[in-house]
Amino acid sequence: MTGSELALDAMGSLRRTHAAAEITPALVGQEVVIAGWVQRRRDHGGVVFVDLRDREGLVQVVFKPEVSPECHERAGQLRSEYVLLVRGVVERRSPETVNPKLATGEVEVNVREARLLNRATPPPFPIEEEIEVDEATRLRYRLHDLRRPPLQRALRLRHAMYQAVRRSLTDLGFLEIETPMLAKSTPEGARDFLVPSRLQPGSFYALPQSPQIMKQLLMVAGFDRYFQIARCFRDEDQRADRQLEFTQVDLELSFVGVEEVLEVLEVVTAAGCAAAGVTLGRPFRRLSYQEAMDRYGNDRPDTRIRLELVDLTDAFAASEFRAFRAAVDRGGIVKCLPVHDAAALSRGQIDRLEAFVKKELGGKGLAWIRVEADGSWQSPIAKFLSDAEQGEIRARTAARPGSLLFFQADEANRANAILSRLRVDLGERLGRVDDRPWEVLFVVDFPLFERGEDGRLTYTHQPFVAPLDADLALLESAPERARGTHYDVVLNGVELGSGSLRNHRADVQRRIFEIMGYAKQETEERFGFMLNALDAGAPPHGGFAFGFDRWAMVLAGCESLRDVIAFPKTQRGQDLLMDAPARVEPEQLAELQLEISRKAAASEPGPRRGQ
Ligand code: AMO
Ligand code: AMP
Repeated sequence: MTGSELALDAMGSLRRTHAAAEITPALVGQEVVIAGWVQRRRDHGGVVFVDLRDREGLVQVVFKPEVSPECHERAGQLRSEYVLLVRGVVERRSPETVNPKLATGEVEVNVREARLLNRATPPPFPIEEEIEVDEATRLRYRLHDLRRPPLQRALRLRHAMYQAVRRSLTDLGFLEIETPMLAKSTPEGARDFLVPSRLQPGSFYALPQSPQIMKQLLMVAGFDRYFQIARCFRDEDQRADRQLEFTQVDLELSFVGVEEVLEVLEVVTAAGCAAAGVTLGRPFRRLSYQEAMDRYGNDRPDTRIRLELVDLTDAFAASEFRAFRAAVDRGGIVKCLPVHDAAALSRGQIDRLEAFVKKELGGKGLAWIRVEADGSWQSPIAKFLSDAEQGEIRARTAARPGSLLFFQADEANRANAILSRLRVDLGERLGRVDDRPWEVLFVVDFPLFERGEDGRLTYTHQPFVAPLDADLALLESAPERARGTHYDVVLNGVELGSGSLRNHRADVQRRIFEIMGYAKQETEERFGFMLNALDAGAPPHGGFAFGFDRWAMVLAGCESLRDVIAFPKTQRGQDLLMDAPARVEPEQLAELQLEISRKAAASEPGPRRGQ
């Protein structure tokens, strides 16, 4: 320590009496003890002002030479983020120094005693509401970022939501039960994170992608209603709304049908949202999967956007326009997004949209028709369309002067994905959004199976989803048409969570594995314990899992999960603060009887400490 450095003090017997934000005019004349971080220091004509920050807010403390020359002298050396405890008297500020922007802006604390509890390295960026710093820097210095108001608010919001959700589920008779992290592969469709076993060399645990199987076992075990705020792990490509590890509010209940589960979900969703001050209209609107796809091209539509898609596939079944006809011949669809009163969209903007669709969304093109003021069409495709086709387009899209019609002819998934993306982009850009701030939906009646890229039937959601009773017979005759009991909750266009009734009968569950092409032996190896459990007297049961981080993200008005998670991972799955993942010591590998291949050893390791 150099001679000029301030000596550190102990807290001694001084105890905090108030939080910074509690220092209001009601306390004028009282002595208080507060502690926190130096937000800012200003020296003004012999007086030193410090904004002291704690979790609850800011208050101005004043060091006057005439009150305590010693404190004043030391105050001059305070720096940003130094940790300070002060004892002083609350005083009213003179009218011209009142700060109306601050809750504590009418008062200040006149310091009698100051204790410097710790120094701090200079912060890498200002600890303020808004900063212009790239995200990698914010993640590397996460603890400083966490000191900033947006993350403080986000984590408080999460806390309020946890408590509200716990309370409402407890009131509904759910028991909170933990399930293992060191587990076996669960079939949620992502890649597993594996953990090598030291005691059984060569064997691995899988971190749970969700507690799905465990919660079903709890139902068989008679717990009736279970919930858990559960960590889940999925090794999948990262996006703004996906993290490698995330949190679910996971729940399961016995002796219920879909309606009872949806009733519970309404109560819990409303309670979690209320914790953020958001009131949802009830009952929640319901949309079938089919209707959602038809009208919005998406199974989690933001229905506040007033644009809807129109299907024209049948109108082009015998078209002369090759691009459209070819799509129909291959089993695809032709769909249109009509945007009325779209004169504001210039030709240049349309061309940029077309380029975007081709380059970023993998589309084959973006055909369009603009209806001019005189009713004539300006369009690169009009010349290919017969009178009958033009008539169908006019009738079904309600085209009128000023309308702009966008078309996709492609396999259904891609055409829908592209048009639903344009629907959101154009809806927002042109202000076609209802001003209801919150829109919650149940999406129901999802198909049980979908065709994978290899042409085989695979599950849409997960393999334990029970078919709708009405569609049980379809399992034998036309499984791809069978609907599942699967339901989603969607808030403002974000899938908050998913669930379903489960197959509680082992015979139905086995049949579903068969339809998906699992060999008997594979089924028994992977899911034998599960099937045995169903045979041990499984009650009818069903459940749901909220993606808690996504829910918090929507309620906080954020665009990325990273804005509502204390220590998130980057796009590349790294924790830049702790420096994970990282190489481990050779002895650790030896204990696990693992060897790193030469190729892996030569690959670039993660970031090194101190960078
Ligand atoms: P599902 O796989 O749909 O269902 O997951 C439920 C919800 O979890 C959220 N979620 C994610 N959030 C952040 N990062 C991720 N990588 C991620 N993956 C999923 C989503 C999703 O809706 N066991 C079933 C639920 C059930 O059937 O009860 C399940 O896990 O918001
Ligand atoms: P082309 O005949 O290929 O020049 O296409 C004429 C117009 O149709 C262009 O505006 C293309 O972007 C558009 N187009 C071509 N194929 C498709 C398709 N499969 N779906 C939608 N638009 C397309």
